[in-house]
Amino acid sequence: MKYMGSKRAMLQNGLGELLGRELAGTRRFVDLFAGSGAVATYVAMRFPIPVLAFDLQRYSVILTDAIINRQTNLDWQSDWRNWHRRAKSLFNTCKIPVADNLTKAIVVNFREWCDQQTKFPITHAYGGHYFSPKQAVWIDSLRVSVPKHEPTKTVALAALIQAASQCAAAPGHTAQPFQPTRTAKRFLKEAWSKDIVSKTRTTFESLSGLFAKRRGQAKVDDANLAASRLRENDLAFIDPPYSGVHYSRFYHVLETIADGDCGEVSGIGRYPAREKRPRSKYSVSSESAEAIRDLLEKVSTRGARAILTFPDHDCSNGLSGDLVREAAMQFFYVQEEQVESAFSTLGGTGDERDNETGRAARRHTRELMLILEPK
Ligand SMILES: C[S@@+](CC[C@H](N)C(=O)[O-])C[C@H]1O[C@@H](n2cnc3c(N)ncnc32)[C@H](O)[C@@H]1O
Repeated sequence: MKYMGSKRAMLQNGLGELLGRELAGTRRFVDLFAGSGAVATYVAMRFPIPVLAFDLQRYSVILTDAIINRQTNLDWQSDWRNWHRRAKSLFNTCKIPVADNLTKAIVVNFREWCDQQTKFPITHAYGGHYFSPKQAVWIDSLRVSVPKHEPTKTVALAALIQAASQCAAAPGHTAQPFQPTRTAKRFLKEAWSKDIVSKTRTTFESLSGLFAKRRGQAKVDDANLAASRLRENDLAFIDPPYSGVHYSRFYHVLETIADGDCGEVSGIGRYPAREKRPRSKYSVSSESAEAIRDLLEKVSTRGARAILTFPDHDCSNGLSGDLVREAAMQFFYVQEEQVESAFSTLGGTGDERDNETGRAARRHTRELMLILEPK
């Protein structure tokens, strides 16, 4: 799944090797900013060490927990059959509008129809925008019918979240959907033609086969609070936001699927009310420096080691590689490595909005990897 700031590529480019070295003698690996779960799941699947993971957002916790909280594979076929059957009978209660050709007028009709579907919260909020009416009703039907028993429930939800992320008519995140304009219509068409059901099934199957060597857990929590519960012999992984725009603005669609509902939405991005979108001190430039200092002090006071990654330049949340390095040196003996990485500029317009086609601009940059030993 595409994710802003995912460490997936870096794991193959130096970070994986570094983790392998630093995990020797570690009792628990604690990912304080789990995001897509790339790092937590990488460690959990390869090393016999329990992994704990935290994030402010529930969808992130579900994606991560689906793998790290299990030590065996799931027998997914009968669960899928039952899940799909329940969802299909709900889906069939709806007479969904379809059209061969997408014109502006048809998109407007689709949006009106979706807006009226108050019994289907995801269709009501996002249908005709991020998803076609048919995709949206499927997402609602699958969401309501998700298996009730754990760990299958979490794995099923993770599969639905990933499938929705792959189908959403938007760039790698969901800050703004593609619009039916002359230039962007083909992106909308392409996204709306994706088969959400088969993507959910395939992802459910593949997630079922991924599990941890030692059972861990992912939880919704603030990294700074989680850090105050660290122990000696823990290795913390610190990959904080680098953007002055809250992650919750970019991933609200996934959060809504995680929660099942989001209430009324507004604006071109179909944002849920502000109080439903987690706010991070790390994305507020007047608070971010204090937040990272406080976090580093807590990790060091608890006697835990850490690996910290951060882009080695000035970032829009007011943090920079230099500031993070200096803060770390106050509390730790610091060893430093650097890797090349692709950096999402979140659309590249510099004003936190995406261009019309919504392609997230990426540029190559250097990423710091600091290895921190408490003083
Ligand atoms: C740079 S991303 C992490 C990416 C992750 N390492 C990966 O590979 O996908 C930062 C994450 O921190 C989360 N976040 C922001 N503020 C937080 C806080 N105070 N406590 C915990 N998580 C937070 C965001 O929701 C986002 O998922």
